[in-house]
Amino acid sequence: MSTNVATIDDERTYEDIYAQGVIVDPEPGVDHNVRIREVKKSFGSFDVLTGLNLNFPDNAITTVLGPSGTGKSVLLKHIVGLLEPDSGLVEVFGQDLWRINDKDRQEIRKRMGILFQDGALFGSMNIYDNVAFPLRKHTHKREAEIRKIVMGHLDEVGLTKAISKFPGEVSGGMKKRAGFARALVLNPSVVMFDEPDSGLDPVRTSLLNDLILRMHAEHGGTYVLVTHDIRTARKVSDYVGVVWKGKLIHYGDTEEAFNSDMPFVRQFLSGDSVGPLGMD
Ligand SMILES: Nc1ncnc2c1ncn2[C@@H]1O[C@H](COP(=O)(O)OP(=O)(O)OP(=O)(O)O)[C@@H](O)[C@H]1O
Ligand SMILES: [Mg+2]
Repeated sequence: MSTNVATIDDERTYEDIYAQGVIVDPEPGVDHNVRIREVKKSFGSFDVLTGLNLNFPDNAITTVLGPSGTGKSVLLKHIVGLLEPDSGLVEVFGQDLWRINDKDRQEIRKRMGILFQDGALFGSMNIYDNVAFPLRKHTHKREAEIRKIVMGHLDEVGLTKAISKFPGEVSGGMKKRAGFARALVLNPSVVMFDEPDSGLDPVRTSLLNDLILRMHAEHGGTYVLVTHDIRTARKVSDYVGVVWKGKLIHYGDTEEAFNSDMPFVRQFLSGDSVGPLGMD
């Protein structure tokens, strides 16, 4: 696999890396459903994304890692069109999300699935109705067909026995699996996960990772995963991008990331308290 990641010798500061730019594409030549170009986003005087560049390869699982508050969730919200960048380009399926009208943006959104941190299920609907919701809202399918699709996905995530339970009655892991089934129900080409492993014990995290790998092998697509869990990143990712202070500072295949000699990347991936990354 080609290596086109900016390398750093210890003489260079992060400002130097920023100025030079990190190459945004871990595997040039493959197609991308999602491209992020020079995206900047501030909330008030707080600059969150500060010129983010990143391409997500199709048919691969790309993990975005980075410290808390560095803009990872904000990035996902840009991809799904929930946030508009102050400047820069968010391109999904070859379309600049903010040069098309709301209706077209909605159409694009239907081709993306997102699993929010807590599953984001509707508390007043049982698991079955939660998973059926996107089909009922966005398609004209009849209930019999919806049932087939919903039960198929619930079977894949091991929840066929929990269909009548409400989110408040099931465990955190089950909520995430239900959220996963719901994210996949419209057959999306892009699937995003915001910290799918948060709040899960190590065994359930591992099972969820297996499920992500299995579903990706089965359905394909551009998977974007945000996580703090280094083991998850190592296990499921084809590529790893590291974001710091709103910019991409490393991007390559998983092996490269874990062998990186950039002090920040090394510190972050080893969870070391000594290094350029502090509490600020
Ligand atoms: N709608 C908003 N209004 C104001 N500030 C926001 C908004 N959304 C995010 N922020 C701020 O942007 C920064 C980045 O937030 P974001 O949620 O993307 O971080 P993150 O990298 O996902 O962190 P974590 O790993 O802790 O989830 C945070 O300081 C957050 O408070
Ligand atoms: Mg977040």
